Amino acid sequence: MKVIRTVEGLKTEVGKAREAGLSVGLVPTMGALHAGHLSLVERARAENDVVVVSVFVNPTQFNNPADLATYPRTEEADSRLLDAAGVDIVFMPTVEEVYPEPDTRVFNLGPVAEVMEGKMRPGHFNGVAQIVSKLFYMVEPTRAYFGEKDFQQIAVIKRMVELEGIDVEIVECPICRADDGLALSSRNVRLSAEQRARAPRIYKTLCRAAEMSGNASIAEVEKMVTDTLNAEEGMEVEYFTIVDTKTMQPLAEWPEKGEAVGCITVYCGDVRLIDNIRFPKK
Ligand code: PAF
Repeated sequence: MKVIRTVEGLKTEVGKAREAGLSVGLVPTMGALHAGHLSLVERARAENDVVVVSVFVNPTQFNNPADLATYPRTEEADSRLLDAAGVDIVFMPTVEEVYPEPDTRVFNLGPVAEVMEGKMRPGHFNGVAQIVSKLFYMVEPTRAYFGEKDFQQIAVIKRMVELEGIDVEIVECPICRADDGLALSSRNVRLSAEQRARAPRIYKTLCRAAEMSGNASIAEVEKMVTDTLNAEEGMEVEYFTIVDTKTMQPLAEWPEKGEAVGCITVYCGDVRLIDNIRFPKK
């Protein structure tokens, strides 16, 4: 596995692969890798000749400086895991390398980026669009892999790709969960033992919501989830919103066409966890 730290080095190395007619799979990450990331790498490995993983904690997508400062950084362990997973190239740049000048681009991401995470974290999705577009221009991947835990992020990235006219296939990969149901996240390491023990209740409640959805309205399901989790000590729901899987717009009624997904953000103490569940079609 080649560890590359410069944009020029990355372009040269990937350029050779593309010139040889090889397909390139890109897995963008912010490091602190876990089995969820490795499932993306495994899929990329199976579907491409060359696999590139980027490990970069992107400052422009953090609207909260404390979140950026405490984001886990585990470069050596990440390298070992990626090497063992058969990755060809890992790109681990510095902030200065990626942003020699401030990125002033503002993307017209539209309604998909205005609700939920977009509303709670102003500027977050613009930052995601900045870094992901930069990576796409550097690597020119055939396919890029993203986890469905960040469900809204995938919709935003698809919109950015459409706006920029980038030729890449966006591959959506299912959420990886711990045995007790907690969605795997780099932030889970920040949970205390007590918070970690409570956190699986998020998914348990989402499963209850899916079961209940056949006989209840959207408003009733949203209320049940919010009330149940807010009743847990040390947990606070920031939002639980049932939206259309494509437009990300909140739904008032279960859709006759299309599909619904319930997206949630919960604070466990000061750790912000996100998750989602798709609802069965009516
Ligand atoms: O999902 C993430 O880890 C990040 O938002 C991404 C896509 C790597 C961009 O920094």
